[in-house]
Amino acid sequence: MPALLEIRGLSAGLRGRRAVTEVVSHVDLDVQAGEILGVVGESGCGKSTLATAIMRLLVPPQVLQSGALTLRLNDGKTFELLKLSESELRELRWRHLSYIPQGSMNSLNPVLRVGRQMMDTLLQHGLSSDEAYKRSVEALELVNLERKLLDSYPHELSGGMRQRVIIAAAVSMRPALIVADELTTALDVVTQRQILQELAAIRDELGATILLITHDMGVVAQVADRVAVMYAGKIAELGTVNGIFEAPLHPYSQGLIGSIPRGGGQRVEGLPGEAPSPWNYPSGCRFHPRCPQAFSPCQEQAPALLPQAAERWTACHLYDAEVAADA
Ligand SMILES: Nc1ncnc2c1ncn2[C@@H]1O[C@H](COP(=O)(O)OP(=O)(O)OP(=O)(O)O)[C@@H](O)[C@H]1O
Ligand SMILES: [Mg+2]
Repeated sequence: MPALLEIRGLSAGLRGRRAVTEVVSHVDLDVQAGEILGVVGESGCGKSTLATAIMRLLVPPQVLQSGALTLRLNDGKTFELLKLSESELRELRWRHLSYIPQGSMNSLNPVLRVGRQMMDTLLQHGLSSDEAYKRSVEALELVNLERKLLDSYPHELSGGMRQRVIIAAAVSMRPALIVADELTTALDVVTQRQILQELAAIRDELGATILLITHDMGVVAQVADRVAVMYAGKIAELGTVNGIFEAPLHPYSQGLIGSIPRGGGQRVEGLPGEAPSPWNYPSGCRFHPRCPQAFSPCQEQAPALLPQAAERWTACHLYDAEVAADA
């Protein structure tokens, strides 16, 4: 089945005074209809840049460099996102393609009641006020909030409730694709777990597809079906969550999984070193300076993302028989 969103050769970067650098480099990724696909990686690896590029919301100094994004809705309509005009995009956003930006729970207007804020957007999309009210109440129910909350001001709500309001607003038009960036990062673990359960229920009830961006492997483990592990602007490994947690192939995936705090909050194994800046990505495999298994080709040659076992792609010379044979 063709993917709901097909990402091909997507590169997005930053324009500096003298040069342009790539932050996200040639990402190829299929987001399948109905799945929750996690994108995980350390701070600064380009996750939000990827999300904003998909939403076509990059702002200078960020620049889109190349690629194609194809959105296929289940009624057969197809959109080439990078070719749409601003007005075509406005029509598509929210209704079919919804975005929950990083830090958005702090973006509610403090002087307007929650209901007014939720309904305004729906009214702008052409719904009648009765319909907008009905949709808002339904959307709040999806995140276990009561309708009386529509009369509250944001400061009267806890962080978890504000985040739920943002999610409800984002899903109120029943979009096909929801791109959620660090949805639960600022919340305590109990609230985090509840919200992720609600997200899974939204996927089931609305038949939505979710691209879930997070630096937290624990979040991925809890709710995602598949995961794309990102390092320094590239996909290092892609596979099912079960497959990758049971047997991570890429040394970076191994490090990330090894550094999840377990019982008592202890770190089992930290990931040594720091993530590189996009102005200073290492040559060859960008992970090689931190890789405990780096060997001769890694410094010079960038590994391609190659199919390994069923449903698994890995960009690492250790698993490229030709490169390993030459080394
Ligand atoms: N507007 C900007 N101006 C300057 N640098 C930027 C801008 N946006 C992103 N960057 C840089 O690009 C890199 C990737 O940033 P991005 O926000 O995409 O990372 P991220 O993976 O989402 O990180 P985090 O987990 O901290 O949210 C970082 O080095 C960041 O400093
Ligand atoms: Mg981010």
